[in-house]
Amino acid sequence: MSARTTVPSVQGRKVRRGDVPLVMVTAYDAPGARLADAAGIDLILVGDSVAMVVLGYDDTLQVTVDDMVHHTAAVARARPSSLIVADMPWLSYHVSVEDTVRNAAALIRAGAQCVKLEGGRKRLPMIEALVDAEIPVMGHIGLTPQSVNAMGGFKVQGRRHEAALALVDDAKALEHSGCFSLVVEGVPTEVGAMITDAVDIPTIGIGAGPGCDGQVLVLHDVLGLEDRILPKFVRRYADLGADGVRALSAYADDVRTGAFPSTEESYRLATPTSEALGLYGAPLS
Ligand code: KIV
Repeated sequence: MSARTTVPSVQGRKVRRGDVPLVMVTAYDAPGARLADAAGIDLILVGDSVAMVVLGYDDTLQVTVDDMVHHTAAVARARPSSLIVADMPWLSYHVSVEDTVRNAAALIRAGAQCVKLEGGRKRLPMIEALVDAEIPVMGHIGLTPQSVNAMGGFKVQGRRHEAALALVDDAKALEHSGCFSLVVEGVPTEVGAMITDAVDIPTIGIGAGPGCDGQVLVLHDVLGLEDRILPKFVRRYADLGADGVRALSAYADDVRTGAFPSTEESYRLATPTSEALGLYGAPLS
């Protein structure tokens, strides 16, 4: 078993200092976490993307703290060496500082080692309160999916000069308020690199180009299990969706033709008894 990834071991990782890029992937249950752990993934994000790739919603706004606790606990039961990051769902850190700390604590008690929340400078009071309560925070700027309605869709952010500089300022403010790392999503490559240069904490990119200190992808995208949306930044490393359909079709054929289950896949009585002979009408071996 490899050594457990910790928040301090992530916080110091910068590619410009010669470190190897960080690898993060989402997982929402114990089998997903075991796959990620066996593959040596550094961080597992229990993302609110669970709403879209597992629960079938069109955006991430539908999941609650209870949903995220449920999925975080399932991931934690796999006891991965990877650092478990739990996403704070929409409205769990927008109402008040007290509410934010209580909701984050529920995710930590479910087994996460840290939480992630979306947004720039307007989140500073919440982040400071979490850090004060010893809850490590990963920031998330750029294309923030919980702002889908405010952004008018899932749109690349920071394409214009002013917007790019505002993202750099957000990144510095989040670092200053105590975030130990930052997800940077859906920005031009140059902006991903500018943000990464501007901070001493690691940036983990998704659709933010190769200049970040790490990368994150959604498990179902990597494995080819999500076929409704395929963003430009996704690279598929398997086609488990097609493999799954092939396997289930073969299973259905075998059941329908009587080829499944076979004798080897069926249980026998411990010893033949007169009742068994009576039941089945033939001697059992
Ligand atoms: O929920 C999620 O999967 C995320 C990633 C896209 C970073 O927040």
